[in-house]
Parts: sequence; structure tokens; C-alpha cells
Amino acid sequence: MSKIYITTAIPYVNGAPHIGHAMDYLLADAYTRYQKGLGNEVRFQAGTDEHGNKIAKKAAELKIDVKDYVDQNSNKFREFIRELGAEPTDFIRTTDANHEKGCQEIWKKLEDHIYKAEYEGWYCEGCERYVTDKEYTENNGVCPDHNRPYEKLKEENYYFKISDFKEQIKKAIESKEMAILPDFRAKEMLELLKDSPDVSISRPTSQLKWGVKVPGDESQVMYVWIDALSNYLTVLGYPENDISDFWPAKVQFVGKDILRFHAIIWPAMLLGLGLPLPKILHSHGHVLVDGKKMSKSIGNVVDPMEVLEAKGLPAFRYFFLRHIDTFADSDFTWEKYDAAYNNELANDLGNLVQRLANLCKKQDLAGIKDFQPEKDAKYLEIMDSLYFSKACDYTWEKVQDLNREIDDKKPWEYNKKIKASDEDEAEKLTAELHGVLIDMAQKLLNVAHLLAPFLPETSEKITNIFTAEKITPPEVPLFPKN
Ligand code: MSP
Repeated sequence: MSKIYITTAIPYVNGAPHIGHAMDYLLADAYTRYQKGLGNEVRFQAGTDEHGNKIAKKAAELKIDVKDYVDQNSNKFREFIRELGAEPTDFIRTTDANHEKGCQEIWKKLEDHIYKAEYEGWYCEGCERYVTDKEYTENNGVCPDHNRPYEKLKEENYYFKISDFKEQIKKAIESKEMAILPDFRAKEMLELLKDSPDVSISRPTSQLKWGVKVPGDESQVMYVWIDALSNYLTVLGYPENDISDFWPAKVQFVGKDILRFHAIIWPAMLLGLGLPLPKILHSHGHVLVDGKKMSKSIGNVVDPMEVLEAKGLPAFRYFFLRHIDTFADSDFTWEKYDAAYNNELANDLGNLVQRLANLCKKQDLAGIKDFQPEKDAKYLEIMDSLYFSKACDYTWEKVQDLNREIDDKKPWEYNKKIKASDEDEAEKLTAELHGVLIDMAQKLLNVAHLLAPFLPETSEKITNIFTAEKITPPEVPLFPKN
């Protein structure tokens, strides 16, 4: 048994969660369940990123005290994670006193690589970062993500010497000591690393008040990324606790938009602290809506609670883990959601369970008491590559195979044949029928096992049906059509 640490990006709390935010949690949760299934102990972190100007401004606009505002929104995320069926072992808020203290300790430990300098450059307030001159020119002076012109800013900041660690980071990415998934993103990060300047890691308090104070300098507040990235360590109790049981993280789940912070600043921080690098940085694609990036101005932001209420949790987990490609941008539309529910969950799986359990019940068959899932090397390989949507596709092929098998073997035709046969022949046919049904029940139990990381509830229901004293179909089908 190993001890495994899995992390998720901590969202900004300047609004309520949208469906895109589900990805980190679902991927991390599926992987956690998979690892636990293999007998490993997992620590699964989640939390909220609560400092920075964007959040302070939003609270001011709403005329709410900023602490009350972040409390409210952090709770919404915590509730959201629960609704998704994800079960983090730890939840950290960057406004937690122990996090703030840990962050300052981390800063102090990095001081050999920190210097103060004046900086003038183009800044996007939406991204809360300076852009390079190259980016400024490429984007014609307007941030493509926030659709607002870059501002010229001049200020005294502390800088973190990325240059001290570039060579080590490059080697770690190339050798996969810190693997970046998918592969093409590793190449992208290596390119970015080449041009990466030292990063500014503080703001004067005149510009940013809502944040962690720089230790020993009342006039400066930490830039949000240093504060936010530290969460992965402070949640383990760093630097007070010995974190070597769980650090380095096995997998850190992040969206593609924030991979650059995790692939450059984060390893530089860890190297500066003398800590090992995470084993895998997993960067997932984005959820689009009707082919577009979700945005309040387009008005296409989908409320995850509405999606959850429409067809329940298993349908939500199924859609986002299978039909949102683990590594590429994919589209959510209500049409696709309905089709996945009706054709795949209700027809392919729900009906199969119902039909097979009905046939077993008619034969008064007992469930498989001593069921042991088969080892499926191909599935394990896909799961270990962390390509979860592919693992779902693979599992679904097995569901389809079973549907084909039941249609080919037509177990419902046996009864007529049995009635028309003499006693010996009837006995033989009955034994054959039971053999067919039990073999299929066994295969369905294996499918349920493969589904467990993705659809834990459904997997458990199927397991209960086919391992019960007597096999009985559920009164309400697993996925009733609506
Ligand atoms: N606060 C930072 C993360 C700090 S981690 C040390 C942040 N927050 S965020 O709220 O903007 O994003 C949180 C997570 O949600 C990120 O992994 C981000 O990529 C992900 N997503 C935000 N929108 C998304 C989609 N539309 N689709 C999929 N994931 C999306 O960045």
C-alpha cells in the first residue's frame, strides 16, 4: 500500500461555480477512487483561492465585507464539491490563518532567490499578471481572455529568480521526473520556460491590500500565485509538519489555462524549498458551451446545479468524465447531455441491467456471492495514463458487448424450448440457460467494477443486484427515461 497525494486547482471565489469548475474535482475524485480501489491511501486536497484585487473589488461592488463575501463563495464551492460526489480529505482556504502563516514561512525560506526591483510593463488586471512585450504585440494591446486593454504599470516589487532554476526545471520536464500530461503541453511549457523572465511576486499595498503580507516589509503584499500555489504544501501542515509521507504529489490536476504557473513558478518554488517536484502535472481541457468559451457577457454560463438537478449525479459524472475529453476542449450542450443520458445510460446500461436481472429472477437465480473482479490489464493501462474519458469509452465497449451478447444468445427464447422438451433435454437446456445468465451477470459485475471510479453509486447498485441472495431487478430502472 502506498500513500498518495492528489491535488486540485483552488478556484477564485469571485463568483459561484460553473460547470467548468467540475472538471478538476471529477478527475481527481475518479483517480482517488481508482487508487483506493488498488488499496492505496489517498490524501485528496481541494480548497479556495480567496485573495487578490478581483475578489476585493467584487465584494466592494456588492457592498459586502470582503471576508463575508469569500466565506459565502467558499461555502458554495465546498457544497458544489459535495454535490459532485467528490470526497476530498482536506479543504484549504487561502484566508486560513495557518495557510497565511505557512505562506510567510515559505517566502522566508525562498529569500535567497528573491530580490526587490522597479518594474514597468503591460499588465492585465483580469489575469492579474504582467504580459511580455511579445504577448502585448501579438494581442494588439488587448487581453484576449478578458477583452480589456493592457495597462502600463510601474511599481516596486519583489522578484523571484526563476532563472536560478530554469535548467533544473527543463531537465525535470524532459526526463519526465515531473511529467506533464498531455505530451504536447510539455513541449509548450518547455518553450515558455525558455523566455520566462523572473516573476514579480508582490504588489505594493497601495495597489493590493487583500492578501498575505510580505514578511518583514509592511509595504508589500504577496502576489496571488505565490499565495495560491503554497496551498498544496500548507494544507499538509508545511513547514511545521514532516510532509514526506504525501509529498511529492502523485498527480496535480489543473486546467490548461493555469498549467504555466504550475509548470514554471511552482517547480521553481519547490526547488527553492529543497522539496521534490510533483510526479505528474495533469492539464485538462476546457468545457465549452455551444462551442464557445463560457462567459457572462455572451450569457452562456451554465449553472452546474441546474445540470445536476436535471438528471441526477451519475448522469452528470458520466457526461463530464466521458464526453468531455480528459485532455481536449469539449462541448457541453443540453442536446448532447440528453442524448448521452437516453442512448447510453438509459438504453445501453439501464436496460441491460433490467433485462438481465429480470431473466435471472424468472429462473430464481441466486446472486454471485463470492464475486472477485477480473484483472483487466488494458483498463489498468488506460487508467494509469490518466486518460479517464478513454477508460470510460473502453468500459462502454464492454457494455455494448454485453448488449450484443444478450441479443445473440436470446436467453428469453429458452423457456419455449424447455417447455417443448422431454425431461432430460429440459434439464440440459435449463442448466445451459443458467450458465448463460450467470456468465453474463459475472461480466456485468466486472463492468460495474470498472465503472466504480466514475459512477460509484451506479456501480454499487449493479453489484448489489447481482450479488444478492436472489437476483431481483430494481423497481425503478437505474436510469428512467424522462
Ligand atoms: N485560483 C486559480 C487557481 C490557483 S491553483 C493554485 C484559478 N482559479 S479559477 O477559478 O479560474 O479556475 C479553477 C480551475 O477551474 C482551474 O483548473 C481552471 O482551469 C478550471 N476551469 C475554469 N474554467 C474552466 C472550464 N470552462 N473548463 C474546464 N476547466 C475550467 O485559476
